[in-house]
Amino acid sequence: MTVPKLVKLKGQRKIVSITAYDFLFARIVDNAGFDFVLVGDSVGTTYQGCSTTLPVTMEEMLYHTRIVRRGVKNALLVGDMPFLSYQTSVSDAIRNAGLFLKEGAEAVKLEGGVAVKDIVKKLVSFGIPVMGHVGLTPQSINVLGGYKIQGKGEASIKRLKEDVEALVDAGVFAIVLEGVYEDVAKEITESIPVPTIGIGAGRFCDGQILVITDILGLDPTFTPRFVKKYRDLYNEVLQALLTYKEDVLKGKFPEDVHSFKRKEE
Ligand code: KIV
Repeated sequence: MTVPKLVKLKGQRKIVSITAYDFLFARIVDNAGFDFVLVGDSVGTTYQGCSTTLPVTMEEMLYHTRIVRRGVKNALLVGDMPFLSYQTSVSDAIRNAGLFLKEGAEAVKLEGGVAVKDIVKKLVSFGIPVMGHVGLTPQSINVLGGYKIQGKGEASIKRLKEDVEALVDAGVFAIVLEGVYEDVAKEITESIPVPTIGIGAGRFCDGQILVITDILGLDPTFTPRFVKKYRDLYNEVLQALLTYKEDVLKGKFPEDVHSFKRKEE
């Protein structure tokens, strides 16, 4: 998948994407034929045990991008710019976005609308494709006052539309709409030329993205309304580990077939 091919999918078929943070899952995702893979800064909450994405660093994101790259052969690979990697200055943003591309990402994603317009414009002018991200933007959790759905009242809808317009003007190739009321996401989707990728934004976006650990049920403490759990891997893995532990304790593992035999000289 390439950026121009992804943009062309708008209006033709739904775009399907998911996050990945390591080689093992990236390879499975790629074999499943997803359109793009996001190395999300959600790695902070999913893999690192943090309560927000704010502590995630560039160094960590580059490491995860490098190992995901090894598993992704066909999907478009998008690197997520972490907090403070682009907000501080245009030159920081160019340098850090460039580092993602050096690790093999083919595009970057960053959060914000009007506030990041000039940064996005500059990145695009230097040949770095940018995916926008508006609505419930986790890096602004302290301003939003929690993980709240956006686009409720007129003022919130107006802000959201201004952010989307700023991103489109700046040249993004797609926009993630996170935690947005369905009717608002539909209106935005129908009014812009680039694909919208929804997460908790209802049925009418051009594509969908979810966090891989959420759909696989790896975190039993996290089941938000917008996630569909396709598996209960937490309990499947737990059962496998308990069975292995019991087998060792009871002398049932290793068996004869798992053991190496020395041949007679
Ligand atoms: O970090 C992430 O995983 C994301 C997606 C939820 C869109 O930004």
